[in-house]
Amino acid sequence: MVEDVGAEPVPVDPQDYRRAIGRFATGVTVATTFAGQHDHAMTANSITSVSLEPVLMMISVEQSARWHEAVLEAGVWGISVLAQSARPAASWLSTPGRPLHGQLDRVPHHRGAATGVALLDGALAAFECRTTGVHAAGDHSLVVGEVVGLEIPPRVEPALIHFRGRYGRLD
Ligand SMILES: Cc1cc2nc3c(=O)[nH]c(=O)nc-3n(C[C@H](O)[C@H](O)[C@H](O)COP(=O)(O)O)c2cc1C
Repeated sequence: MVEDVGAEPVPVDPQDYRRAIGRFATGVTVATTFAGQHDHAMTANSITSVSLEPVLMMISVEQSARWHEAVLEAGVWGISVLAQSARPAASWLSTPGRPLHGQLDRVPHHRGAATGVALLDGALAAFECRTTGVHAAGDHSLVVGEVVGLEIPPRVEPALIHFRGRYGRLD
């Protein structure tokens, strides 16, 4: 049991939290979906594996991101795990206010066999998901989906990683 020392809890500064969580090194992905006759894509590192039976994964999406509305409308989404050579795509697809239409015009991609969402060419792995639950969590939503398609290309390049606010590579 945690001892109550009687002190008032001091609220954690969100910027301090951001610096601290930035020391948790992650891979980098591009999340995709298709809504309103357009592809929507967004760089994301908050994906988590949730369950094996059934196979579920999760992404935490900022509610103010345009991808949020798109994924709720579509109900299907893709996750492409980026290789280090995809760093320009990661930068582009995290640029706030980039044009909504044609975001993937200069990003080579193909359609996933299970859902038709865009998946990035050269990804280390790709997942296609069908939403099973959306859970509000602060200013984000936790979008959980059943994995209905997978791509595991045989050739593996170094991974793009994100650590302390910067991109790096992991061989
Ligand atoms: C490395 C990295 C990881 C990110 N991960 C997430 C994430 O997991 N969830 C999220 O909502 N936004 C994430 N973002 C921010 C979004 O990419 C960004 O807010 C979004 O593309 C803005 O697009 P919009 O102007 O269309 O809303 C991340 C950005 C970077 C650079």
